[in-house]
Amino acid sequence: MKKMMDLLAEEMSAAFEKAGYDASLGKVTVSNRPDLCEYQCNGAMAGAKTYHKAPLMIAEDVVKHLTDSSVFSVAEAVKPGFINLKVRESFISHYLEQMKVSDSLGVEKTEDPKTIIIDYGGPNVAKPLHVGHLRSAIIGESIKRMGRFMGHKVIGDVHLGDWGLQMGLIITQLRDMKPDLPYFDDDFQGEYPKEAPFTIGELEEIYPAASARSKEDEQFRQEALEATHLLQEGKPGYRALWNHIMNVSVTDLKKNYEKLNVTFDLWKKESDAQPYIPDMVEKMKQEGYAYLDQGALVVDVKEESDTKEIPPCMILKSDGASLYTTTDLATIVEREKLFHPDEILYVVDKRQEMHFIQVFRCAKKTGLLPDKTKLSFLGFGTMNGKDGKPFKTREGGVMRLEHLIADINEEMFKKIVENRSVRDKDAQETAQIVGLAAIKYGDLSNQATKDYVFDIDRFTSFEGNTGPYILYTIVRIKSILNRYIEAGGNLESGEILEASSDSEKALMLALSGFLAMAVNAFEEKAPHKICSYIYELANEFNRFYHETKILSEEDERQKESWIQLLNLAKRVLETSIDLLGFSAPERM
Ligand code: ARG
Repeated sequence: MKKMMDLLAEEMSAAFEKAGYDASLGKVTVSNRPDLCEYQCNGAMAGAKTYHKAPLMIAEDVVKHLTDSSVFSVAEAVKPGFINLKVRESFISHYLEQMKVSDSLGVEKTEDPKTIIIDYGGPNVAKPLHVGHLRSAIIGESIKRMGRFMGHKVIGDVHLGDWGLQMGLIITQLRDMKPDLPYFDDDFQGEYPKEAPFTIGELEEIYPAASARSKEDEQFRQEALEATHLLQEGKPGYRALWNHIMNVSVTDLKKNYEKLNVTFDLWKKESDAQPYIPDMVEKMKQEGYAYLDQGALVVDVKEESDTKEIPPCMILKSDGASLYTTTDLATIVEREKLFHPDEILYVVDKRQEMHFIQVFRCAKKTGLLPDKTKLSFLGFGTMNGKDGKPFKTREGGVMRLEHLIADINEEMFKKIVENRSVRDKDAQETAQIVGLAAIKYGDLSNQATKDYVFDIDRFTSFEGNTGPYILYTIVRIKSILNRYIEAGGNLESGEILEASSDSEKALMLALSGFLAMAVNAFEEKAPHKICSYIYELANEFNRFYHETKILSEEDERQKESWIQLLNLAKRVLETSIDLLGFSAPERM
C-alpha cells in the first residue's frame, strides 16, 4: 500500500502541475496548526522565488484545481501563502478498508531484503545479568522484530563474553577454594567429571569475590591473567572448567532472557572467533597494515577529517594475548564467512563508541569485509535511578536483572489487585505480562542514545505515556469486541464508514499513519517512534471511546462500522507492541 501522506502529496502535486507549477512543490506535511487544518502544503512559499510571484498568488492558483478533489474536502490558500488541508472522510475510510484487508496492515515486504546481523544482549558469562544488559536486549530485540516485519532476513546473535579475564579470575579463585579438584592437577589423566563443581548461585558469588580480590592482591591478579592465557592456549583442565562455567551460565541466561521475551538465533561467543585470529593477524601483517609499537601489534585507523584523536587499533598485546578488539575483528571475519551479511548492527552501551570506531575502521581498511557491507553502531545511554546516577539497588549495589523484574512485577501486582477485580490466580500472571510492558515501554519510549531515569512508580502507572496505559487501552477494546460477540455480533461483517465526529476522524487519521510510521521507525532504528505513535493512537482511541456509545448504537450499519474500526485499532496496537517485544493480557 502507499503511505497516506504520499497519496496526499500525489493529489497536491497534480494540482501544482495543472496550475503550471512544478509538481515537486506538492509536498504535504502534518499541520502544525491542528486547530485550523489536518495537513498543510508549503510548496507555494518554496516556489515564490522561482516563479517571481507572491506565494499567496501561487497558492490561490493551486487550490482552484482542488475544488472537486476526491482527496481533500478543504484546500484553502491562507496568508502568507500556505495551503491548509482537510482530508475527505470518504478518502480516509476507503484507505482504512484497504488496511483492514491486508494481513500486514498495508505494510509490504521489502523488494530488496537484506541480511542483517544484530549483535545485542552481550552478557558476560558467569557475571550476573545487570540492568546495563537490559537495554541492549530490549532495544536489539525490538529492532530485530521491526526488520523482520519489513521483510529483511535478520539474525540475532547474543555474542557472549566468555573469553576475557573474568574466566581467569573464576578459575584462579576456584583453585584457591577447592585445590583438590582434578582440573588443577597437571598430572591428571582420567576423564573430568560430568557434573559442574558449582551451582549457578555459587558461580555468581565466585566472580564478584575474585574481581574484588584482584584489585587488592596484585599476585592474585597476575595468576588470573596467567590462567586466562593458559585457558586461551587450551590447557585441558581449564578448558574442562570453562565448559562447566559455560553450561551452568548459559542455562541461567536463557531462563532470564525468556522472562524478557527476548530470543536469539545464535548463541555465539567471543571464543568462537579464536580460530580466525591467527590468519587474520598474519594477513594484516603481510599486507603491511599492522606494525609493532612498543611490542604491541597495532593498525592505524585515524583519518584526515577526524576532529578528535582516534588512537591506533590494538590487535595483539606485547605478550601476544588477544584483546576485545581482536575478538570483535575476528568475529567479523567469521560472520562474513558464515552469513555474508549486508549489515552488522551492534547494540551496545554508547561508552563503547570509540572501540567500535576503531574496529569498524580497521575491518574496512584491512579488507575483512566487502566495501558495501555496512557496520553500524547503536550506542545507548545509561539507565539511571531517580537520583540521576546509574541505577542501583536500595543498598547501593549493582541491581540484578532478576531482582528488577521481580520488583516491577510486585508493584504491578499491587496495582492490578487494587484497581481491578481480576481473580487472584490470574492477577499474578497478568502482573508479569503488564510488568514486562512497563519495563520495555519505559525503556523504549526514550530515544535510545539518551540516558533515562528508571522510575518504577511512573513506569507502572496506568495513566500517561506508559506501557500499562497502552495495554489498558488494548484490553478496553478487547472487552468491547468480546461483548459485541457475546451479544451475537461477528467481526467479519460490515465496512468502515465515513467518520461522523471529530474524534472519530482523528482516530481514523491516526490509524492511517501506521505504514509511514513503521517504515520510518525501522529506517531510523528508532523504537521510540513506535511508542510515540501508539501513545497518540491510544489517546485518540480513548477520546473517541468516551464520546461514543458504541454497543448501544441502534443503527446496525453504524455499529458494525465502529466495531470494524475498533478491531483495526486493536490490530494496529497489537502489531506495534509486538514490534516492541511485549504483548497484552486478556483482562487487567
Ligand atoms: N560483553 C560486552 C559487555 O558487557 C558487550 C558485547 C557487545 N558486543 C560486541 N560485539 N562487542 O560490555
